[in-house]
Amino acid sequence: MPQLAYVDGRVLPLRDAGVGVEDRGLQFADAIYEVVAVLGGRLLDWPAHLVRLRRNLAALFIDFPMSDAALSAQALRLVAANGHKQALLYIQIGRGAARRDHGFPSDPNASLIMTVRRFDFQQRIAQLQTGVGVITVNDMRWGRVDIKTTGLLANVLAKQDARNAGAFEAWMVAEDGTVREGGSTNAWIVRGGTVFTHPLSRHILPGIARSALLRLAADVQVRVVEEAFDLETARSADEAFLTSTTSPILPVVRIDGVAVGDGKPGPVTARLAGAIWADITAQTGWTAF
Ligand code: PDD
Repeated sequence: MPQLAYVDGRVLPLRDAGVGVEDRGLQFADAIYEVVAVLGGRLLDWPAHLVRLRRNLAALFIDFPMSDAALSAQALRLVAANGHKQALLYIQIGRGAARRDHGFPSDPNASLIMTVRRFDFQQRIAQLQTGVGVITVNDMRWGRVDIKTTGLLANVLAKQDARNAGAFEAWMVAEDGTVREGGSTNAWIVRGGTVFTHPLSRHILPGIARSALLRLAADVQVRVVEEAFDLETARSADEAFLTSTTSPILPVVRIDGVAVGDGKPGPVTARLAGAIWADITAQTGWTAF
């Protein structure tokens, strides 16, 4: 079965899907997006993604007339048509196509693009045992990275640096040494049994996996504080880990090639992983173990 995509009301084979050359998402990154985990054919944390999507549209003054119910129905229809039990749903909403001019078009026609690609979540279970490495890079992004826009060039370069270094992720560090987040993941450390992560601000994306962890940590008696930490503190942490839709939780065992703690996934991360995967099973019925 060919991969299917949704473009402005039409479902068509991915290879035939496209947008016009004057699409503002293409020319200006004038678009927001969401990436949603599909497990057991169900959407994980869908209401939270919808809330973030609406907040991002409002932040950019993109007028998107489709209701939540209609968007949900179209998304689920595409997921079902693609038939994958483990997948990623990508949703992009932009200010549409118009004659090139930086200011908003006077009669904008928002565009909606969705794709569904198979994704192997099982690999994330195996990686819980090994952990992953991160490198660090300067945070070169603009001042509103809390808005999930397709303007991801700094993230692209950071992730490529990580790939070139054989690392899983790049942690983006502010000029004052504060660790903000990864190229596509949120960053966490554990010190003395307490978990630390950057507070919500204009400098990090409010991750859906981040908020799931904040909600679930108390269930496994783990104390979490939303308090920024610097790179030096991260390097001497007992444990570190990252979270995202595509990596619900992964231990970070190396920062810039140097072991975190004893260089192995730690017990606090493991407890949190248990809670997170149990919640995923409760929501979707999908079980990895
Ligand atoms: N990335 N920080 C950044 C910069 C991100 O791009 C993402 C998500 C996250 C984690 O957010 P969430 O828990 O909602 O996935 C943090 C998505 C998956 C992506 O760009 O592919």
